[in-house]
Amino acid sequence: MRTRVLSGMRPTGSMHLGHYHGALKNWAKLQHEHDCFFFVADWHALTTHYEEREVIEKSVYDMVVDWLAAGLDPDRCTIFIQSRLPEHAELFTLLAMGTPLGWLERVPTYKDQIEKLKDRDLATYGFLGYPLLQAADILIYKADFVPVGEDQSSHVELTREVARRFNNLYGRGRDFEAQVAAALALLSKDDSRYFDKQRKAYGETGAAEAYGRGEAIVKKAAVQVSGWTPAQTELLMGHLKGSGRSVLVEPQVLLTETPKLPGLDGAKMSKSYGNAILMRETPETLTKKVRGMATDPARVRRTDPGEPDKCPVWNFHQVYSDDATREWAAAGCRSAGIGCLDCKQPVIDAMLREQQPWRERAAALLAEPKKVQWIVENGTERARTVARQTMKDVREAMGLAY
Ligand code: TRP
Ligand code: SF4
Repeated sequence: MRTRVLSGMRPTGSMHLGHYHGALKNWAKLQHEHDCFFFVADWHALTTHYEEREVIEKSVYDMVVDWLAAGLDPDRCTIFIQSRLPEHAELFTLLAMGTPLGWLERVPTYKDQIEKLKDRDLATYGFLGYPLLQAADILIYKADFVPVGEDQSSHVELTREVARRFNNLYGRGRDFEAQVAAALALLSKDDSRYFDKQRKAYGETGAAEAYGRGEAIVKKAAVQVSGWTPAQTELLMGHLKGSGRSVLVEPQVLLTETPKLPGLDGAKMSKSYGNAILMRETPETLTKKVRGMATDPARVRRTDPGEPDKCPVWNFHQVYSDDATREWAAAGCRSAGIGCLDCKQPVIDAMLREQQPWRERAAALLAEPKKVQWIVENGTERARTVARQTMKDVREAMGLAY
């Protein structure tokens, strides 16, 4: 079975090159390697933009168009909208019952964002709880990996803790012992005894070898015992760990390796800072924006030499130029052999080349809005199948299956 990957993005405005190089490009690659779920986090957008529903409404489908334009293939990944799946809200509510308040208050982004977004009132219940909503988003798909930037890794860490706590609290159903006995009865007497010996040893000493030997028995059973179920594997692995059955899967962060692309001024690219190049920029405005970029302040006149490390255009060369072009630019800058407009031209050309296929795909999709809706509809139903199953397991584990 392919490992599952899940990630989401907030629909709070047009997609720009920072989104592409920081996330989308990586998503497009991951869809070939994993079972990928990508969703529009519209509820998350509301945690900060609850007073600006128009922005969200407008951005949802625009964002999906840009995802598809960037190369996400609906035949290879599942694309959906969070709010279409109330199951996320149900899991969020159930997880909220046992999540200590301190876990949320201590999430580093919490105080950070309240500080940074001073023009918004974020002293809300929703904003405090949003990392737990994110945990529900991830856990409901039993995702193995979550590709996010460094800034979001604390949320994945919280998700792991929440999953662990859930499994500890509810992984041992009332009939856990009976189920374990039934599974062990399917093994040979020797294997069953051997497994139990390893389990005890692991419980007492934490020895990795004992764990490994126990696991080997379970793996062997999964292959050799007819009628053996994946649930039984989970059950015995939980028994071995002493944690009960793992109903929820602890995910891992998949840190995005692609180089981050800063904005026109060298600060983080963001539409609200006015330093962004959009994915759907016209060639004219793109050219104008790059030509208008500030450069090393030491280069007042064409004849003044400059230093690439002090110039935001240089960041763009890192992402868009090959070694030869970079050497040409750096040498030309330091010797005043080239002007800044000369230096920017290869970046402009590379950006226009990159955007060309996006523009074509986006134009085709915008001409057929029904098609985009259908893609989302399809993805939503696929996601629902998985989310429903998890909720069934969760309700059962929590004793809500009456
Ligand atoms: N919180 C993320 C952000 O602000 C978006 C998001 C919501 C997400 N749920 C997620 C990302 C689940 C990864 C997994 O960018
Ligand atoms: Fe920046 Fe290039 Fe001008 Fe040097 S030549 S200051 S790197 S734009």
